[in-house]
Amino acid sequence: MAAEPRAMPGPFSGLSVKLITIIVAVILTAGIVIYLPLVANYRDSWLADRLRIGIVAARVLDAVPDVMALPQTLTDRLLNSAGAKAIVYRRGGQSQLLSVEGVEMPKEVVTADMRLDDPVTRILGALDTLFAGNGRTLRIVGDSDGSADGVVEVLMSETPLRLGMLAYSRNIALLSLIIAAITAIALYVFVSRTFIAPIRRITANMVAYRQAPENANLIIAPEPRKDEVGIAERELAAMQTDLFTMLRQRRHLADLGLAVAKINHDLRNTLTSAQLLSDQVATLDDPKVQRLAPRLVTTLDKAIGFAQSVLDYGRQSATPPKPGPVDMRLLVEESGIEAGLMGHPDVRFSNGIPDGLVINADADQLGRVLVNLLKNARQALEANTGASHPPEITVTFSEAPDELIFTVADNGPGLPPRAKENLFIAFEGSARAGGTGLGLAIARELVEAHGGKLLFVDQPQGARFDIILPATARLS
Ligand SMILES: Nc1ncnc2c1ncn2[C@@H]1O[C@H](COP(=O)(O)OP(=O)(O)OP(=O)(O)O)[C@@H](O)[C@H]1O
Ligand SMILES: [Mg+2]
Repeated sequence: MAAEPRAMPGPFSGLSVKLITIIVAVILTAGIVIYLPLVANYRDSWLADRLRIGIVAARVLDAVPDVMALPQTLTDRLLNSAGAKAIVYRRGGQSQLLSVEGVEMPKEVVTADMRLDDPVTRILGALDTLFAGNGRTLRIVGDSDGSADGVVEVLMSETPLRLGMLAYSRNIALLSLIIAAITAIALYVFVSRTFIAPIRRITANMVAYRQAPENANLIIAPEPRKDEVGIAERELAAMQTDLFTMLRQRRHLADLGLAVAKINHDLRNTLTSAQLLSDQVATLDDPKVQRLAPRLVTTLDKAIGFAQSVLDYGRQSATPPKPGPVDMRLLVEESGIEAGLMGHPDVRFSNGIPDGLVINADADQLGRVLVNLLKNARQALEANTGASHPPEITVTFSEAPDELIFTVADNGPGLPPRAKENLFIAFEGSARAGGTGLGLAIARELVEAHGGKLLFVDQPQGARFDIILPATARLS
């Protein structure tokens, strides 16, 4: 019996949870990837704004020959409007300073050079600002517009920039969370409706159907969809219908088979009693009886044999192999004895299996396969009177990649056409008077139950059958 059917996962486990997790993870990763250039940009434009004040001051200084002549109130207003502590303007080897009255030169100064604009420097600068604490002083350096060699420096506190960047980051984080949530919800609803719900329906149906495959009510009713889900549902419905019909047929056949087995069983017992009577009759002295009795005895023997093989067929196909170590040379030897080959007056039997070859198999079943094949060969050889060469049966062993091959070959007449056409088909394959046509069918079933194959190999002379087992069965 296959594994127990599994319970269905709840609505927030299984596929749905995997889907939501992956959507949120992808959107948040994307958020982080675009966040860095965005925050660097924010810092850049903030710095550029402040630098512009410096550039305006530089223009003023360009126009006014003497800095000292500028009233302090004007300077203070200019600087305060930019939130700057001081502005330095360097030009032609000279530098001029505008500063708020009474300002002290700070100790910890970080430089933001606006003349460098590669993205890595910008992103690193932004990270530096974000992770430094408040209270540092910033020196923004940039070209003064106009004259080419003029450089402007603006000194100011970094804290407002940092606070602005933190607020901006919070906004971006909030925005990505909102986008992630909206996308996850929208995708979840869409995917649940179009995929997960039908998959759950199909899965639940399969779980239920497997528990009661003979209940036609459980056959899935396919939805009229043209996509893959629709095809899957229709195919599943077709498969379940086929299975349902097959199971019903099987049950009827099994019922019939049971009836046949019962009748057959009684028939065999009746025939056995008749055989006892015929044995008694054979002892009578009447010459007429003496002439007919042997025919009666063989006919009854055949009938009993037939009944017995039908009973065996019913029994054998049901049991799975019980593997264990099997010494193959010994098994072939014993099968030869059972097939009536030991001490046979005409047929020579040669066991070519190497000593010590042990495989993992059901000795009983594999023995039955060998006996069937050997018996067939013996019967064919015995019926083949007038052959020019001495009749012989050989069993040999060979190996191919992944395969162990046991060959049973004889030098008899070969398979008659009728047997060839219906080879391995129960009750059909017999071309022998008194044969039931079960031997090869049973043999093939037993070999296949071992994961192997039973093949008839065409030969110019005689018949050859190969029992092929997986190489993994070999123990030594
Ligand atoms: N080695 C062989 N040489 C020639 N013919 C064979 C050989 N093996 C099988 N056959 C033919 O194949 C037929 C089918 O064999 P199978 O063993 O299936 O049935 P059976 O021998 O007729 O009946 P059962 O084995 O059930 O008593 C045989 O009747 C025989 O004609
Ligand atoms: Mg046979």
